[in-house]
Amino acid sequence: MYQIIHRNGLAKRARLITVHGVIETPVFMNVGTAAAIKGAVATTDLKDIRTQVQLSNTYHLHVRPGDEVVKKLGGLHRFMNWDRPILTDSGGFQVFSLGELRKIKEEGVYFRSHVDGRKIFMGPEESMQIQSNLGSTIAMAFDECPSSVASREYVQNSVDRTTRWLKRCRTEMARLNTVEDTINPHQLLFGINQGAIFPDIRIDHAKAISELELDGYAVGGLAVGESHAEMYHILDEVVPHLPSEKPTYLMGVGTPANILEAVSRGVDFFDCVYPSRNGRHGHVYTNRGKLNMLNAKYELDDAPIEEGCGCPACTHYSRAYIRHLLKAKEMLGMRLCVLHNLYFYNTMMEEIRQAIEEERYQEYKAAKLQGFQENDK
Ligand code: GUN
Ligand code: ZN
Repeated sequence: MYQIIHRNGLAKRARLITVHGVIETPVFMNVGTAAAIKGAVATTDLKDIRTQVQLSNTYHLHVRPGDEVVKKLGGLHRFMNWDRPILTDSGGFQVFSLGELRKIKEEGVYFRSHVDGRKIFMGPEESMQIQSNLGSTIAMAFDECPSSVASREYVQNSVDRTTRWLKRCRTEMARLNTVEDTINPHQLLFGINQGAIFPDIRIDHAKAISELELDGYAVGGLAVGESHAEMYHILDEVVPHLPSEKPTYLMGVGTPANILEAVSRGVDFFDCVYPSRNGRHGHVYTNRGKLNMLNAKYELDDAPIEEGCGCPACTHYSRAYIRHLLKAKEMLGMRLCVLHNLYFYNTMMEEIRQAIEEERYQEYKAAKLQGFQENDK
């Protein structure tokens, strides 16, 4: 059940109630592709950094260790010791990024494993079966994410097929949720809007999928090479055609600024590898923009990454120490930067929720964006 608590312009403050607990939105989901957040972050760390939802990947877990293995071990929640919500991406996007290794047909996609080269087939039914074996809280529909440079004709055909796939996903998920030994009989299904940079194709698709009464709706195929302005324009066009009383998820996005802009356009779920990937490279987010912790100017800097930050890195360690760890290639350096970055994102989402409730979202957003520019000039 999705309860809208407050609206401020198009921004929504809401709450998704699931069998694995409540998700307060807008939310940033922390990416753990292969059932682990990269940077040696354990699920036992996540409560300290205020993670609400962990995101994992159908394709990766199917290839290794295998979704049947995870099911035998009681499902993904038990396997990785995380009792709060998990969203699994459907595998569509990852398969499509394999490029030459794949072939798309009406029934699904034929491709080779990136691990051992073995041939695999995944269609809508297979994706739902894998996600059901994992027992995630929210399953994503199996979609094709067409290239941002694909022709209009290619994109139209692809989107039509994605709609047919979505209907197959819905039928299969309804069946799986009633199977006797299913891990999570209340698994939710979100559909995904596609259409590259063609607003009319996207709008028609948004209208078609809105009729299917899914548990939530994602906008996919963005942040794949188009400009930020183009992405915001697509959101302006498309989000009003998705049901605003349901969760709206912008997949794979993005920078803190992207999130602030998308929230004001009605988006309330996000995920992105940036905080963990940048953290592994010693790049950390602050309210005054990104810092490179490898920079020589931090050699004797006894201050935390960000003054006042309550994360496990800033409460205990200095910039100088973290810089030393990164220089010495100690794993702890990466880990502290990743924890700080995820805490930064999760805390920004808390501020966003509060600002919407207090009807000062636009002022909050403007001040936050201005602060970020201080180090990015
Ligand atoms: N992650 C980021 N973009 C996409 C998309 O278009 N589809 C899916 N399934 N996952 C994504
Ligand atoms: Zn911190």
